[in-house]
Amino acid sequence: MSAPAGQGAGRGTGVRAPSRARIAEKTLRTDRWWLSPLLTVLGLSTFIVYATIRAFVRTAYWVPEYHYLTPFYSPCVSESCVEGSRHFGAWFGELPGFIPLGFLVLPFLLGFRLTCYYYRKAYYRAVWFSPPACAVAEPHAKYTGETRLPLIIQNVHRYFFYVAVVVSLINTYDAITAFHGIDGGFGFGLGNIVLTGNVILLWAYTLSCHSCRHVTGGRLKHFSKHPVRYWIWTQITKLNTRHMALAWTTLGTLVLTDLYVMLVSSGAISDLRFIN
Ligand code: FES
Repeated sequence: MSAPAGQGAGRGTGVRAPSRARIAEKTLRTDRWWLSPLLTVLGLSTFIVYATIRAFVRTAYWVPEYHYLTPFYSPCVSESCVEGSRHFGAWFGELPGFIPLGFLVLPFLLGFRLTCYYYRKAYYRAVWFSPPACAVAEPHAKYTGETRLPLIIQNVHRYFFYVAVVVSLINTYDAITAFHGIDGGFGFGLGNIVLTGNVILLWAYTLSCHSCRHVTGGRLKHFSKHPVRYWIWTQITKLNTRHMALAWTTLGTLVLTDLYVMLVSSGAISDLRFIN
């Protein structure tokens, strides 16, 4: 049977595929379907602008009295890092100003977030309109999925996950060493709550990753033969249901932690100390 006139040859894929109903309107939805993509793009843009500025300013990232180090500069491993902030030594000499001091992990963290399954959904909808929302036609004539450059890079997410685990360990070390008193012994202040809370949530986000779920329980044919891995997988799966919330929460706690360190370091506020 031949295709109806105007369909078939010359039509694209997706909503323009020959088999799809021919609807002139972009969408028949009457609700505020655009609100979610709009909030997403605003939230992501705000974080990107803030993080980019902070990554390059090279000021107020370390509080020497209490050993608070912002996660945006961790690990700080060059001669350009201020004294005390180099928790793992100086692996590099002085860095030119256009290289962020946290350069060693920032590309991996960016890659981890960009290829995250949740963020993909968010920016595919909010930035690329592919599609902008359910039952809203996308502007692209073709859909090639993640089968070619640049989106085929999304498939390396699991490797970014491995690096993110290492970075979470480093952030944990930073948070532990921050229990530092002004005279050198144990100390505890509001900054410790901020840093530790941030690290706990970063772990929750990292471990709730879909790749982590696969690492723990994937490729098993019989859960009954692997009770430990099955138990871990079930816990990760529970966490995984909150992945979207954790993705947004950790963007917020990263900014909050950096902001707090910056304000204390610059002298704009004093750290609230419980044990000096
Ligand atoms: Fe979101 Fe891996 S971090 S899926």
